[in-house]
Amino acid sequence: MTPRDQQGRRLHDLRISVTDRCSFRCPYCMPKELFGPAFEFIKRQQLLTYEEITRLARIFVELGVEKVRLTGGEPLLRRDLCDLIRWLAAVPGIRDLTLTTNGLLLPKFATDLAAAGLDRVTVSLDSLDEAVFGRMNDVGVGVDKILTGIDSALAAGLTPLKVNAVVQRGVNDHTIVDLARHFHGSGVIVRFIEFMDVGTTNGWRLDTVVPTAEIVERIDRVLPLEPVAANYPGEVAKRHRYRDGGGEIGVIASVTQPFCGGCTRARLSPEGKLFSCLFANTGHDLRAPLRAGDSDEDLRQRLARIWGKRDDRYSEIRSAATAQLPRIEMSYIGG
Ligand code: GTP
Ligand code: 5AD
Ligand code: SF4
Ligand code: SF4
Repeated sequence: MTPRDQQGRRLHDLRISVTDRCSFRCPYCMPKELFGPAFEFIKRQQLLTYEEITRLARIFVELGVEKVRLTGGEPLLRRDLCDLIRWLAAVPGIRDLTLTTNGLLLPKFATDLAAAGLDRVTVSLDSLDEAVFGRMNDVGVGVDKILTGIDSALAAGLTPLKVNAVVQRGVNDHTIVDLARHFHGSGVIVRFIEFMDVGTTNGWRLDTVVPTAEIVERIDRVLPLEPVAANYPGEVAKRHRYRDGGGEIGVIASVTQPFCGGCTRARLSPEGKLFSCLFANTGHDLRAPLRAGDSDEDLRQRLARIWGKRDDRYSEIRSAATAQLPRIEMSYIGG
């Protein structure tokens, strides 16, 4: 049974945030002033256990999910994450098991992650310029640490490896061509992401968004590009390949060219709330029914009901009015 939502969209991707903690303080995601020592992160007892996550994932797969991505916060901060990966890798029907990370702990975990059954990783890296990257992680981590992490992941076979770079005008937009050039010919796919108005703490303004059309144009001037068809319907990134055969890049235009029409993504928060949109302000609690002893069939029906009512298309209706609405933070729900 694959339920359809109010817009006829099926359920295909499940993004599981395993922790709201992160070692970085990227100002566009977890600004230091707000996520300081006094910030109350989710307590351990409130987190879904790996058993609970795996059970839910199984049921999601019965409803059509084929792709599972672990996110955070920083997922590699959650203890024994490889156990969860091993269990998820054993769920029949998950065809793509991936993880989004800031890369810092990859040298430590890449081999174990691959052995546990993770297919590939996506590493966030916004710039190769030391000063710019320092400002963008805001905890003084150097570019070399992340490049070492990427190398460990490549060596462990966690490929195709993607690099996510959020582009902000006046912050790192002057370094995008260098980032593209660095990974040109390496097999690593860099994706440039328009800065989004997720959460309510990152001081988003439309004039800080660099439209992906401009990003493509700037790279194309130095390394000529041509568009490529999507890998699958509803793919978030628009693909472009280098005309010289040096691989491809992707651009994610969630502000200037929203893609809600093909949005087949469900998001599970660290304490078990299901969000039907990145910009939702409330989630559906699944932990209480799980812990109250609901059967798999009860849970399946609950999920199908939630999906059936789903009508989200925030990016398509973004306006001055929607900007005022409360919404969850990216560090809580993942990208
Ligand atoms: P692949 O499976 O490797 O293509 O990855 P993906 O398309 O799932 O991309 P990824 O998870 O790396 O997401 C990249 C970025 O795109 C995220 O960090 C978000 O900024 C943005 N993004 C992903 N999904 C959505 C979505 O449903 N809505 C919006 N508005 N942005 C999204
Ligand atoms: N806009 C766009 N992307 C964002 N990310 C975090 N915050 C934002 C934002 N405001 C991205 C990170 C990472 C992924 C988890 O989400 O760069 O790649
Ligand atoms: Fe951490 Fe990623 Fe948010 Fe940066 S963007 S603070 S690395 S979760
Ligand atoms: Fe999906 Fe919401 Fe993003 Fe639109 S804004 S693509 S509905 S998550």
